[in-house]
Amino acid sequence: MEFKDVMARRHSVRAFTDQPVSEKVLNKLLSTAASAPSWSNTQPYQIAVAKGEVLEDLRQTLPPMFDELMDLAKGSKFKQLKAMVTKKGMPDGDFKPVTDYPKDLQPRRSATGYQLYELLGIQRDDKQARHQQMRENFRFFNAPVAVFIFVHEGLDVYSALDAGIFLQSLMLAATDAGLATCAQGALAIWRSPLEKHFNIPENYKLLCGMSLGYEADETINQFKPERQPLEALLVPKK
Ligand SMILES: Cc1cc2nc3c(=O)[nH]c(=O)nc-3n(C[C@H](O)[C@H](O)[C@H](O)COP(=O)(O)O)c2cc1C
Repeated sequence: MEFKDVMARRHSVRAFTDQPVSEKVLNKLLSTAASAPSWSNTQPYQIAVAKGEVLEDLRQTLPPMFDELMDLAKGSKFKQLKAMVTKKGMPDGDFKPVTDYPKDLQPRRSATGYQLYELLGIQRDDKQARHQQMRENFRFFNAPVAVFIFVHEGLDVYSALDAGIFLQSLMLAATDAGLATCAQGALAIWRSPLEKHFNIPENYKLLCGMSLGYEADETINQFKPERQPLEALLVPKK
């Protein structure tokens, strides 16, 4: 594929087929992404790849945790306080999940959400259906592979920058090979379920996850949110 076609074809896929990703293909994609540039070539990230039984275990574990968290958010202040003290059901990711978006970004965030729900025929006030859709994140949208990216805490935001370049490289490599991806900040809410399966160095912090597999022919995958006009991206001159 030509580069411009790879860029145009990559989009976030939220329904995957059951087709497995072979070890050979997976290694090729990761090796390609590993050629990404990084700050002084420090490559300040670690990657955990979940598939097979490990992924199935996470697919069983995470959705009920999400349900519990949402219940808690709706629950009484007492329940929330209790959860904060006992830590039961609370996020234990390394970075604070974004809940309050900056005012200038919120409209774009809302528009993207509403457009997705509109495509799926989900009404704005149908909290149950929206919950079910969000919950799919924690089932990895049925993908056969999930990738988790951890960044070295010592490089602060610069390791996140490098991890972002790695992530996009991986997504483009996957697209070029006929696979599909969805980057998922949602998968950074909990670290503890990953600790069960991986020896994650303590100084590496969970930044993001990504589902990987083959795109299913489902309505949700028609979702292609538009970008703001280029002028809106450019800092105006004085
Ligand atoms: C760092 C990052 C985190 C994301 N987290 C999620 C997520 O948790 N769940 C989800 O469905 N999509 C997630 N996305 C996908 C974005 O919603 C998507 O990239 C954006 O709407 C643009 O659409 P496109 O990727 O199809 O071009 C994430 C994307 C990025 C880059």
